[in-house]
Amino acid sequence: MATTKRMVSLSSNILRHNNSNITSVTNRASSSWWSHVEMGPPDAILGVTEAYKRDTNPKKINLGVGAYRDDNGKPFVLPSVLEAEDRMRAKNLDKEYAPIAGSPEFCKLSISLALGDDSEHVKNGVNATLQGISGTGSLRIGAAFLHKFFPGNKVVYLPTPSWGNHTPIFKHSGLDVKQYRYYDPKTCGFDFQGALEDISKLPENSIILFHACAHNPTGVDPKPEQWAEISHVVKKRKLFPFFDMAYQGFASGDVTRDAFAVRHFVKEGHHIALTQSYAKNMGLYGERAGAFSLITGSKEEAATTMSQLKILVRPMYSNPPIHGARIVTEILSDSALRNKWLKDVKGMADRIISMRTQLRDNLKKEGSSRNWSHITDQIGMFCFTGMNPQQSERLTKEFSIYLTKDGRISMAGVTSKNVSYLAHGIHEVTK
Ligand SMILES: Cc1ncc(COP(=O)(O)O)c(C=O)c1O
Repeated sequence: MATTKRMVSLSSNILRHNNSNITSVTNRASSSWWSHVEMGPPDAILGVTEAYKRDTNPKKINLGVGAYRDDNGKPFVLPSVLEAEDRMRAKNLDKEYAPIAGSPEFCKLSISLALGDDSEHVKNGVNATLQGISGTGSLRIGAAFLHKFFPGNKVVYLPTPSWGNHTPIFKHSGLDVKQYRYYDPKTCGFDFQGALEDISKLPENSIILFHACAHNPTGVDPKPEQWAEISHVVKKRKLFPFFDMAYQGFASGDVTRDAFAVRHFVKEGHHIALTQSYAKNMGLYGERAGAFSLITGSKEEAATTMSQLKILVRPMYSNPPIHGARIVTEILSDSALRNKWLKDVKGMADRIISMRTQLRDNLKKEGSSRNWSHITDQIGMFCFTGMNPQQSERLTKEFSIYLTKDGRISMAGVTSKNVSYLAHGIHEVTK
């Protein structure tokens, strides 16, 4: 009897609940479907650019943006890219769909750029390489593949800190994300001991992510002999290494030197995952050209993993864009144009390296007694200055110099014209 009563009251509750749902759905339909959607936070880096645009100070500097600028602070289209496009135009190419995995020629050239033209792995066909949507899209496909097929712990260990998009990309794919020590704020350098200690304690059969070169946001990379030790520990712990290579050539100006870590791990027998991006080293930001590769144990494994990668791509975006991949193919497949590109990429890296020296010299001229050697020790697009959030905020408020609150500045935004003003501002907020 009591049970019947409870059931009657329960079902009338459900009815009431359903009725109120119907009412709210009806109300919503007559007003808006999306009134319940709350405003999301703005992207931290794009927010910096928005604030910079609103500023009317003629001395303003935007050091938030992660794209190369020339010495006049202007976006730069590489001469080798312009020539590639001229050549493409003369070929009267069509605009048909690419295959699901993108252009096979692009894929072959990309993996060869990463592993070297004489790579045994490429010759033996043990790589599964797919054209992705720049670095981000390639990471996303790689993450989706690992979520579905990785036989170990579905956890990715990231360096602390890491590129802000790594955590959302891996989490969005269903993987868990944890950290290992990487950056030492005391030295503004690599925490080698901390990293080794943490890596040697990671649960076996986990995934570990490395920035192949020009670590973002810190600009701090392990030295070759440190990479060798890391490789050893990774092997001992049976970890799966995932390399994100977004800056090959852009870091040192030398594509071979910047590929050291990736090539070393492969030489040591690791079966790695690798993402590549042509956004920075070819200045193809908006073209979204990149690649994802797995170095597998055999030609058969390369074929099976590739078939599954294609199955993941098909419902996501069907096939990748063609224009950027054609530019890359044109450049990498012709030795004269490739050499021209190698000079372009060295030119960009050298300008950034010289801005690091000039910034350090100007800080000295300002009378700063701090040790700024990390500015020239760090490499690539970004410099982790060591400024705290208060100092970074003062730099923006008092000098109209825009940067993220973690003290990261994009060296690409520093020019021979604004470097002394920047040094003055940094000295004023840090003295
Ligand atoms: C470490 C790292 N990975 C990947 C990317 C991906 O860039 P994109 O998707 O533009 O190729 C970036 C870009 O800033 C990066 O810094």
